[in-house]
Amino acid sequence: MITVAVVSTKGGVGKTTLCANLGVLLADLGMRVLLVDADVQPSLSRYFEIGHGTQNGLSGMVREGNATAEFISSVVFTSLRKSQSQRPKVHGKLDIIRSDAHDGALQEYLANRSDKEVRIKKALQSPHVKENYDVVLIDSQGAKGVLQKSAIFASDLLISPICPDVLSSREFTLGTMEMLDDVESLPLKDFNMPPMKAVIYRTENTVDSRAIAQVIRESFMTMRGRVTVLNATVPHSVSYKKSRNFTATGPLD
Ligand SMILES: Nc1ncnc2c1ncn2[C@@H]1O[C@H](COP(=O)(O)OP(=O)(O)OP(=O)(O)O)[C@@H](O)[C@H]1O
Ligand SMILES: [Mg+2]
Repeated sequence: MITVAVVSTKGGVGKTTLCANLGVLLADLGMRVLLVDADVQPSLSRYFEIGHGTQNGLSGMVREGNATAEFISSVVFTSLRKSQSQRPKVHGKLDIIRSDAHDGALQEYLANRSDKEVRIKKALQSPHVKENYDVVLIDSQGAKGVLQKSAIFASDLLISPICPDVLSSREFTLGTMEMLDDVESLPLKDFNMPPMKAVIYRTENTVDSRAIAQVIRESFMTMRGRVTVLNATVPHSVSYKKSRNFTATGPLD
């Protein structure tokens, strides 16, 4: 099992959209995927049509310190493959731990705990998750705080979308380094900073967009080797906006 968090110090860059699309793609490839909406604004939770919806989500899991079935809802998704023969023999699944943390009580609860940074990590190391999932994908919040840090501590790999425009790439470079420095400075035993893969996101077919993407690749090489930029890029496309067709239903609403 691998745990991946989609993180960025900038808001609105595409974390949730990337997380949702990655989840569906991996499940469509036959993997058992668990999404975790670790943002107080429950955008990822509202992305999908929910099959079996549970009463409790993120807050329950964090308080319990154990990710069991009672916090996990199932997502209804249709295969992206057109013909039956293209579909993998193994059927994947897509489940989600929905965010129910909008009133600030979760952050307050976490802030008062000595294990606040590793609480989500511990919960996701439950036997239930280990036995039932291949990939855990965490959508984190853009704002700095205990939830963002906990998502980083829980992960084996970080993915960070970065838009190819000058201001966001500058802001991103500084913000990302600050966030990684901040997390690394915490005196936690047995913690190694997960590698971070940046993905150039919302590229456009223009000279400017291509030139800035090139500058991003070069500048990231100087970031003490902590961040690498993936060769794959994600285009700016209305289909990503349109992919958000559902609002969640079920007990959490
Ligand atoms: N590849 C894309 N092409 C075009 N629009 C996109 C793409 N990815 C995301 N968007 C749109 O950009 C907006 C912000 O995306 P999203 O909510 O995923 O960002 P976020 O980083 O999760 O934001 P927040 O920091 O508020 O959580 C949304 O309206 C989304 O539909
Ligand atoms: Mg988001």
